[in-house]
Amino acid sequence: MTYSFKKAAAAIMASTALLLAACGGGEEEKGSSPSEEKKVLNVGTEATFAPFEFMDKGEVSGFDVDLLNAAAEEAGYDVNIQNTGWDSMLAGLQSGQLDIGMSGITITDERKETYDFSVPYFESVTMIVYKEGTDIKAAEDLKGKKIGVQNGTTGQFAAESIVGVNNNAISKYETAALMFQALQSGDVEAVVTDIAVALEYEKSNPNAGVKTVTDDQFAAEYYGIAFPKGSEYKDDFDKALNTLYENGKYAEIYEKWFDEAPDMETLKKAAQ
Ligand code: ARG
Repeated sequence: MTYSFKKAAAAIMASTALLLAACGGGEEEKGSSPSEEKKVLNVGTEATFAPFEFMDKGEVSGFDVDLLNAAAEEAGYDVNIQNTGWDSMLAGLQSGQLDIGMSGITITDERKETYDFSVPYFESVTMIVYKEGTDIKAAEDLKGKKIGVQNGTTGQFAAESIVGVNNNAISKYETAALMFQALQSGDVEAVVTDIAVALEYEKSNPNAGVKTVTDDQFAAEYYGIAFPKGSEYKDDFDKALNTLYENGKYAEIYEKWFDEAPDMETLKKAAQ
């Protein structure tokens, strides 16, 4: 090989490498032909709700993420999960810009008028988190206290059921994180949220000086995957969730995040 030929070959190889690198970046799934490429569904969430969804090294992580990934895999879809925030998630579902909302969303009759929901995937109940020293033993004790909630959540509705709608003792925060910050800073004396999130906050903030209490007057709630009304994906995800309930994968994911076995009986009954 002559020197000049070598030089030309090297130049061609270098430009080919550049070209390949440029193409590689835009390719979604390498190695699969277009016909086997899975449809990518856009998912919104509010990722300050550990252990269900929270940011970990720039990625949305949590029980909901693992469960949704497993369900999507089972149903034959890819998912693109974005930390949109709560209000934008709901708006995105209504406009159809999002295919899925996965955010510890409680299935309520009112929401069912606007969204479709999957079969239930998690049982929850309202819990009060308060600063040590605040006199709260039951839900009624919220009366006369400064209360924080995440805006537009069942925690807000539960607080309102005790102290009344539009009571200005209730401060509404855009994210669960801001709600807990308000408790920490003393802006509110108690927050009303979901049990697993309350317990996770208490556990991971041992120096925060908080206590938790629930009350029989708070009813059981179930989380569902939310879809725009009339979504073509709901049935696929219902089927996938039921498969994960049967084949043990749901239990595996549950144990990873909650260190105990799920109550499959109750869940399956709720999913019927
Ligand atoms: N389960 C409650 C609801 O549906 C709270 C959900 C809040 N989720 C979140 N990712 N911040 O209203």
